[in-house]
Amino acid sequence: MSTLTVVGAGYVGLVTTACMAELGHSIVAMDLDEEKIRVLSEGGVPIYEPGLADLIAKNRERIQFTTDPVFAYRAGEFIFICVDTPPSHSGDADLSRIWQAVDNLPPDEGEHVLVTKSTVPVGTGAAVQAELAARGYAHIGYSSNPEFLREGSALQDFMFADRVVVGADDPAVADQVAALYRGLDCPVVKTDVASAEMIKYACNAFLATKISFINEIANVCEVTGADVSVVAHGMGLDHRIGPHFLQAGIGYGGSCFPKDVSALKQIAGNSGYHFQLLGAVIEVNELQKRRVIGKLKRLLGNELRGKRVALLGLSFKPNTDDIRQASSIVLAGRLEAEGAQVVAYDPLAMPQMQKLLPRVAYAASPMDALQGADACVLVTEWQEFLDLDWAQVKEVMREPIVIDGRNALDAAGLVGLGFTYEGVGTRTPRS
Ligand SMILES: NC(=O)c1ccc[n+]([C@@H]2O[C@H](COP(=O)([O-])OP(=O)(O)OC[C@H]3O[C@@H](n4cnc5c(N)ncnc54)[C@H](O)[C@@H]3O)[C@@H](O)[C@H]2O)c1
Repeated sequence: MSTLTVVGAGYVGLVTTACMAELGHSIVAMDLDEEKIRVLSEGGVPIYEPGLADLIAKNRERIQFTTDPVFAYRAGEFIFICVDTPPSHSGDADLSRIWQAVDNLPPDEGEHVLVTKSTVPVGTGAAVQAELAARGYAHIGYSSNPEFLREGSALQDFMFADRVVVGADDPAVADQVAALYRGLDCPVVKTDVASAEMIKYACNAFLATKISFINEIANVCEVTGADVSVVAHGMGLDHRIGPHFLQAGIGYGGSCFPKDVSALKQIAGNSGYHFQLLGAVIEVNELQKRRVIGKLKRLLGNELRGKRVALLGLSFKPNTDDIRQASSIVLAGRLEAEGAQVVAYDPLAMPQMQKLLPRVAYAASPMDALQGADACVLVTEWQEFLDLDWAQVKEVMREPIVIDGRNALDAAGLVGLGFTYEGVGTRTPRS
């Protein structure tokens, strides 16, 4: 078993920490954020991810948390870089934290392998290796080992991965990194660094394309009278297409898809290739978030000023507190711009959202949010919203209007209760 340094104790870093410790490795997890490390050292977990706190607690004796880069980097045979690579204003990935993590490497005689788990543009690994060589760190091996976990099911995704991708230009380094995953029952794709980096972007861009595709089909369904849920079912049974990522809705969000699609578009553009398809994928997604406004206007007499609109859900998907690039942000902003009174509820994401959207009213419960509302929009399909007593909801709303942004509610049931219901690309059932 090996000692791993994990740089960046965020979603990917903490899941890597917990799962690699579960596989038997010793971990030193380092973050520059002192508050995060304080919480972790005291037994807490600063993010919400189902099962994560328990898995860290279970393997606690093999895990150390620190803010000290020198101690952390010296401890690990393998240094896993799991820092964030957010979008910059140009749409390119901002690699400042990657370079900060590389710059923090202490002068050292020891053998290390630097493993980049963060999503980085193709060519980053080559640039990092050139920098290491220029600084006299030729003894440090390098591998790209992109992460494919999904927030909300991250532990499952790590421990039962579809595949592990290990990119290294030195086959011995690839073997060493692949060996760390011994215990997982999945194929290991060993390749060069550039191809590994591209696999990650290509996957996210393809999945985002699938979402924008089905959303456009949904929009055409709305004007032609077809029902996208039946269409998606019929499509998904074709094994060449598959059923996943064919749920129409109000657009994708999160910390990965928007930034990775835009970064891949820039990677291509910066290399002189115009990736036309991705431009459309991004535009469709932006428009999809805004279509809700048109539906609300149609149902509320073309005027949203002064109307109370309840948003159910703020996180970009259920079972996470992550609000990065969530559709709710654009939706709330557009509603505010129309003069609507926005009241929101989310089981986990309200503290973060309060900082971003201070003018939104945050309710103590879903029922409080719905009280007196002229319309409600299901933004995130948290189970507790699906389980609401909708007969009671009808009693407390001023107008029983539901826009189901995720096609997750029981449409026929709601119509039967007397609601005006609209999903995305679905035929509205008659009562
Ligand atoms: N979140 C996901 O679902 C997911 C899935 C696959 C891949 N990724 C990729 O993994 C990377 C990390 O994503 P995340 O969601 O875990 O980010 P995150 O923002 O949750 O965590 C990043 C952490 O790195 C820390 N950090 C930044 N610079 C540092 C430095 N120099 N030294 C030590 N710590 C530092 C930050 O304080 C933060 O705690 C990104 O490139 C992302 O695209 C994310």
